[in-house]
Amino acid sequence: MNDQQCVQELLDFIDASPSPWHAVATMEQTLIKHAFQRLIETESWGLSAGKRYYVIRDDSSIIAFVAGTKSLVNHGYKIIGAHTDSPGLRIKPHALFKTGELLCMGVEVYGGPILATFTDRDLSFAGRLSYQTTTGDIKTKLVRFEQALLRLPNLAIHMNRTVNEEGLKLNKQSELPLLFASSAEEQLPETVFTELLSTQSELAAEQILSWEFNVYDTQKGAFWGADQAFYSNSQLDNLASCHAGLSALLDKQVLNSGNTVICAFFDHEEVGSESTKGANGSFLPDTLERIALASDLKPEEYKRALAQSFMLSVDMAHAYQPNFPAAYEPEHKVYVNKGPVIKLNANQRYSSETVSEAMFIRWCQQANVPFQKYAHRTDIPCGSTIGPMTSAKLGIRTVDVGNAMWAMHSIRESAGVLDHRYIIDVMQCFFKSE
Ligand code: CO
Repeated sequence: MNDQQCVQELLDFIDASPSPWHAVATMEQTLIKHAFQRLIETESWGLSAGKRYYVIRDDSSIIAFVAGTKSLVNHGYKIIGAHTDSPGLRIKPHALFKTGELLCMGVEVYGGPILATFTDRDLSFAGRLSYQTTTGDIKTKLVRFEQALLRLPNLAIHMNRTVNEEGLKLNKQSELPLLFASSAEEQLPETVFTELLSTQSELAAEQILSWEFNVYDTQKGAFWGADQAFYSNSQLDNLASCHAGLSALLDKQVLNSGNTVICAFFDHEEVGSESTKGANGSFLPDTLERIALASDLKPEEYKRALAQSFMLSVDMAHAYQPNFPAAYEPEHKVYVNKGPVIKLNANQRYSSETVSEAMFIRWCQQANVPFQKYAHRTDIPCGSTIGPMTSAKLGIRTVDVGNAMWAMHSIRESAGVLDHRYIIDVMQCFFKSE
């Protein structure tokens, strides 16, 4: 597969995944095709060495792994961590409301999106709903509206004369509701919405109990630039890292390496990871411990396995944008198409330290892939990742890395074609390492 095809696969994955719940379902389909077997948390787990498994918690966090044939105590867990969620807009519980002659959709801001980028886009929504079956059970179902249904039109410049000098500022309560329909009919907004869900989900309106919906951009991913060396789509942060991690896991040599290799992808990173399925929750510790128990490890042996383990915490990095030189640390600019970025921060906003960094550099050298080092400007607060949380909880040596991208948290982000293949190659080296 060439670099372009590899990124096309990523773009297709994102286009099929308009919400974190869809992202996990898309990855699940890929895992099933590769003979991974689902484990259920309420059931007892019997694992066979060399076999492939996955666990899903609450539809939007997933851990996939191969039970190694090599000793877990001596080789540890080799983990790639990333997140399935992206910042954006979520539909409010009482979704539709009338304002003048229009029906609008109320939205809540999820995480820290660049709100101005949501204007004048062909938006729609997707997510999951819970419904009651005829026998009284509660089930969930994914729902996606394919057509552009929603829009946030800009104010004309004639009414916002200073927009180019002062930037587009939007009040989160009053200026974000999305336009949905003309409201000529006498129908109640609540009924309009329930009927919409009912038709799309093929469920009776009275069966539908609750739901969570993400607003997404219906525009598909694309290549751009000379030689089409760059690509753009929504949710590159951090579905690009999920796709890279999964691609590395599914490599034949990795699957047959005998190592206990793991992809752990969590929801709720963009809002702090503090939830049942977030990276700061119990999902990863529970799963690692259950793998140890099912492999007949004694408690001390489990701790030894953790001490022997390594995690690549993979999340996107900030590529240099030459129009804004003042935003970057001048000696630590990183570029797209120049290889994975090692993220370093003395205040432990990133989990990288000397040894984990050195190990990552070695894997880059083995894979013949260039690498770069990033530090944030000292006078601007630095972002963080799941790395510091999971490493603190489990005591697993971790390095924070990721590919460089432009416009992080815009609804249309961009990155470099070469980097995707690069990071997959390094991930494979890591998974196959002794
Ligand atoms: Co991220």
